[in-house]
Amino acid sequence: MALAGLPYSPARPQNLEQPAEVTRVAVEEPITPIPEPRPWDPLKVQLGERLFKDPRLSRDNSRSCVSCHDLSGNGASSNRLDQDPDGSTLPLNTPTVFNSSLSFRLGWEGRYRTLDDQAAALLQAPHVMNSPVAEIARRLNSDPDIRGQFVVVYGRRPDADNIVDAIATFERTLLTPDSRFDRWLKGDANALSPLEMNGYRLFKSLGCVACHQGVNVGGNLFQRHGIFHPLASPKPELLRVPSLRNVATTAPYFHDGSATTLDDAVRKMGLAQLNSTLTDEQVKAIVAYLGTLTGTFRGKPVGTAP
Ligand code: HEC
Ligand code: HEC
Repeated sequence: MALAGLPYSPARPQNLEQPAEVTRVAVEEPITPIPEPRPWDPLKVQLGERLFKDPRLSRDNSRSCVSCHDLSGNGASSNRLDQDPDGSTLPLNTPTVFNSSLSFRLGWEGRYRTLDDQAAALLQAPHVMNSPVAEIARRLNSDPDIRGQFVVVYGRRPDADNIVDAIATFERTLLTPDSRFDRWLKGDANALSPLEMNGYRLFKSLGCVACHQGVNVGGNLFQRHGIFHPLASPKPELLRVPSLRNVATTAPYFHDGSATTLDDAVRKMGLAQLNSTLTDEQVKAIVAYLGTLTGTFRGKPVGTAP
């Protein structure tokens, strides 16, 4: 089919350490299960989580990372496009922070290689936090409580490096293992219904898996969008293929948030990327399969309200 020449072998994520556990996995499958989170230094993770929720990271104290990346829901927001501090809309839809450490690049265009670089950039970005890290360090230094927490964890006061390090370390814990599909990959033959199984077969036979593959079912290749037919806003042309982990919970879809339902996104993908008009049955099966990619965070399914 039209996919000849597309790279197929999953690239190793740049910012992922070796998985802590080696599981019995169906090795011939092009998708691998999410590893259990590693036991990161718990005090560092706690500090990172505190920063992730701290509005002092934004210039006008109006927002924190969770304002757009809701950890009790899908790790993103449900808005088509979020807003900058002045109230104008951002050019790109907010992606989920769940499992982002497993992607080889970060952001829609894959501009950043590590969570540290991404966090440092978002802190300074005028339309996100709009706050130089040195200024954030100054603010945190004037709060004895959080300053003390930095001293315990890093042996020094908050500074540009350890602020970013704590946030990035926390983000590395945001993995969502134990989806039904991962259970199937690990050998539980009953984890998927016949319809979902059929959807997975179509996902492979139609060629979706040529771009959406590896541990994140995406996140390891750059591709153009709208190859056969226009998909969404034409710019940017080249995107990091998004991960489809937890995709049933992350509507709306595409870099401009233009597809409101998963059904719609799947149908458009078939036409735009594979030149195939999917039948209603095919769409139904694929959507059912994608629903099995919803994992768990802190023991509950991603996307469910607390
Ligand atoms: C105003 C909403 C908003 C806020 C606040 C925000 N983000 Fe984001 N985040 C975004 C958008 C939009 C993108 C996509 C940017 C791009 O692709 O260039 C993004 C992308 C990301 C990604 C990349 C995810 C991936 O898999 O590609 C990470 C990680 C991330 N943000 C972490 C953070 C952290 C840490 C903070 C707090 C310091 C933060 N975000 C604050 C909107 C926001
Ligand atoms: C040639 C590579 C390629 C193929 C083949 C492909 N996709 Fe995609 N997929 C992409 C890219 C690139 C995007 C991002 C498009 C955008 O945001 O504008 C994407 C986005 C998506 C999204 C939305 C994800 C989100 O979070 O916004 C879904 C769902 C999806 N694809 C499913 C599929 C399905 C199902 C198939 C097979 C019918 C498929 N894709 C085939 C490259 C591909």
